[in-house]
Amino acid sequence: MKNILITGGAGFIGSHVVRRFVQNYPNYHIYNLDALTYAGNLENIKDIENESNYTFVKGDIVDESFINELFAKYNFEGVLHLAAESHVDRSIEDPLSFVKTNVIGTMNLLNAARKLWKDNMEGKRFYHISTDEVYGSLGAEGLFTETTSYDPNSPYSASKASSDHFVRAYGETYGLPYVLTNCSNNYGPFHFPEKLIPLFINNIINNKPLPVYGDGNYTRDWLFVKDHAIAIDLVFHEGKNHETYNIGGFNEWKNIDLVKLLCKVMDEKLGRSEGESSKLITYVKDRPGHDLRYAIDASKINTELGWKPTVTFEEGLEQTIDWYLSNTDWLNNVTSGEYANYYKKQYN
Ligand code: NAD
Ligand code: DAU
Repeated sequence: MKNILITGGAGFIGSHVVRRFVQNYPNYHIYNLDALTYAGNLENIKDIENESNYTFVKGDIVDESFINELFAKYNFEGVLHLAAESHVDRSIEDPLSFVKTNVIGTMNLLNAARKLWKDNMEGKRFYHISTDEVYGSLGAEGLFTETTSYDPNSPYSASKASSDHFVRAYGETYGLPYVLTNCSNNYGPFHFPEKLIPLFINNIINNKPLPVYGDGNYTRDWLFVKDHAIAIDLVFHEGKNHETYNIGGFNEWKNIDLVKLLCKVMDEKLGRSEGESSKLITYVKDRPGHDLRYAIDASKINTELGWKPTVTFEEGLEQTIDWYLSNTDWLNNVTSGEYANYYKKQYN
């Protein structure tokens, strides 16, 4: 039995990764470390909470002594690090909390792994899950590759870029066996409704305005979250040490086109007449430092590890909408309490 640490496993992507690892690897004991911030929710992993190869640990990666004790106690052989502050708009309001979790928290994990593995790095692996936002913004043409220079524009992407640099530096300086991936925008079940797709699904259900930033002509490359979890599994097991892999959906959408598609599908699902939900579209003040376009060249992970998305955007979006429509309790629970304050402040 190998002890494997997954951080941030009560969040959106982390919950899919934890579920996949607990179900597919009975020879691993999965420790899910999560601080349960506003974005962390044990409901996201309720279906696997009683599995014998699974343990939830509540704790903060910023707490250095706690992290050191945890590593000493469980002697982890692998780490998949997803815990982060992940929302760009929140990073504009409160950059320091992003530095604490995304930079200092990552440093604490790197130091603990380095200490624990210093005499024998054989078979050990530190996997840092990162974002395409570290590359900054593309113009109308081109794709991000693994050699694109870092050029982050938001406090969130700057904090993720910083953590990526530290991971690489620990590989070069101390020989830490790491792998790193930079992924595009995910969507799917358990996505917190502060992000575009779940926010707009929730607002359409509740007949609330759909706040499109700026002119809506910003482009993102969308990937179904379960395909990201498959890629993470593959890179953890078959990726080469000290390598970076870009992960993306080969699926670019301008925000406004995506929102119109979402409105159309929601009209069908809710039995509304065509065009009803799109009347909710409201152009609002732009996000400061808004990156124009992200698009990933995922050919390295495709040719070297054989990964490609298994779900088309139309299928993934429909599955996602169906999930939200049949999990209104989940949606209502996460939008109660603190969410209302956030929403009021962000959208006035
Ligand atoms: P999320 O915000 O849904 O979840 C983050 C999780 O981390 C939550 O469960 C939260 O409780 C936990 N957490 C936050 N601070 C913590 C701390 N100090 N200690 C312990 N746990 C803490 O995020 P997500 O969208 O699932 O993203 C997961 C990772 O993937 C992040 O590192 C993010 O940068 C990266 N990523 C996300 C996307 C995306 O589209 N969502 C795309 C590419 C990369
Ligand atoms: O690219 C990967 C990144 O994708 C991840 O690293 C981040 O953790 C994740 O949050 C996501 O970042 P984005 O900023 O691209 O996602 P978000 O859902 O916040 O916004 C998507 C696009 O929609 C972006 O161009 C901003 C726009 N938007 C967003 C919101 C919340 C709106 O127009 N209105 C909104 O209310």
